[in-house]
Amino acid sequence: MLHNVLIAVDGSQNSRRAVEYAGKVFSPNPEARLVLFQILPAISRMNLDKKEIKEIDARKVERPDLAGLYWRAEDEDKMNKFFAEAEDILGKGGAKPEQIKSKFGVKKLEIADAILEEAELGKYDTLILGRRGLSRVREFFMGSISTKVVREARGCAVCVVG
Ligand SMILES: Nc1ncnc2c1ncn2[C@@H]1O[C@H](COP(=O)(O)OP(=O)(O)OP(=O)(O)O)[C@@H](O)[C@H]1O
Ligand SMILES: [Mg+2]
Repeated sequence: MLHNVLIAVDGSQNSRRAVEYAGKVFSPNPEARLVLFQILPAISRMNLDKKEIKEIDARKVERPDLAGLYWRAEDEDKMNKFFAEAEDILGKGGAKPEQIKSKFGVKKLEIADAILEEAELGKYDTLILGRRGLSRVREFFMGSISTKVVREARGCAVCVVG
């Protein structure tokens, strides 16, 4: 059965467990399409020098959806390293490279809303995330993003990996 799976990641150990779960449960399915998805923090253009602004603006030719947004190269590098590790985990689970994709956005909405929007527009049937993320606050059982995604997702299954 075709399975369209969105895996939301933030580079945390928790989201790595979400990837491991996807690798175990969905990677063996030759019809699964697995998409890793991360939203990077937006920064003001004022925090970048001319060269950095030029480099980011050049990217917008193929990503017109990122118009007006800026982000840190350092955050993108860290994300790409995590994507590479995650793709490896999914590959080891049995998924072929053409079944795996990674995609990033830059924060313009609330992160939970951006994940829900991607899930809806990309017609995913399963959404996987970690129970917690990067934050050190431990007073709540689930993070604010996983809580909101579980509460508001419609038309797809949400797996929260603990
Ligand atoms: N920027 C992001 N892009 C994509 N997915 C994310 C992002 N941030 C969090 N997630 C997903 O949501 C899960 C839960 O993270 P969440 O941010 O809700 O918890 P937290 O960081 O512990 O708490 P909070 O951020 O509310 O203080 C993560 O494991 C990850 O799967
Ligand atoms: Mg968080």
